[in-house]
Amino acid sequence: MSAVQELLLLPLALLALQASLCRGACVEVDSNTEAVVNEGFKLGCISCKKRGEVPATATVDWYFMASDETFYSPLYSYENRRADVTDSRFDDRLAWNGSKNTDDLQDGSIYILNVTFNDIGTYKCIFTRTLKYSNYEFQTYTNKTIVMKVVPKLTRGLASILSEVMMYVTIIGLQVWLAIEMIYCYRKISAAGEEALRESAAEYLAIASESKDNCAGVQVAE
Ligand SMILES: *[C@@H]1O[C@H](CO)[C@@H](O)[C@H](O)[C@H]1NC(C)=O
Ligand SMILES: *[C@@H]1O[C@H](CO)[C@@H](O)[C@H](O)[C@H]1NC(C)=O
Repeated sequence: MSAVQELLLLPLALLALQASLCRGACVEVDSNTEAVVNEGFKLGCISCKKRGEVPATATVDWYFMASDETFYSPLYSYENRRADVTDSRFDDRLAWNGSKNTDDLQDGSIYILNVTFNDIGTYKCIFTRTLKYSNYEFQTYTNKTIVMKVVPKLTRGLASILSEVMMYVTIIGLQVWLAIEMIYCYRKISAAGEEALRESAAEYLAIASESKDNCAGVQVAE
């Protein structure tokens, strides 16, 4: 990643840090959708509890529909802090990335290890949340779908390198131009200042000699 890209990502990173530091503040961020083959990928699924003060428990179930399939099949379920991978294609390849040490789940994200092109497809996550009021319980369901793409390892194309070089050339070029412009303007202004000084000096001399003539005239009249 280039320095400039990192610089652009800095505010986002700070924002994410702030979000993770502010415990209890739940933000429903959409999942990424582009995985890189042979790398890990986090399937994000967050469902914030609307009534923060009401105690609740939640379970999360994930379903998967491969790109050549027409229906969802169970993929993964997380209940009572126990995970269960229910699709043999993902055996030993799914890890829990959601809320930890609680049954009151708000983050139901999972992590795919070693993504393959066969993992392309649609993922659905369903939160089943039980809100526990003092004399009754209430169940809510939230679901999100993620259409995941898988791309080959990210390689930087020539175009990307070229555009970065162009960017630096442009930035440096602009600064040099600015410096030249400043020097030019400075010299022009100081030259104009000298010119004005010279002009006003000449004018002063002219007036002075004229008044001397006048004085001479006065003297003559006396
Ligand atoms: C998600 O799970 C993977 C695999 O266990 C782990 O490497 C990664 O750090 C986890 N990320 C988060 C945010 O928990
Ligand atoms: C991922 O795949 C690579 C090669 O395909 C293998 O060497 C590595 O052990 C795998 N990692 C996991 C966590 O399965």
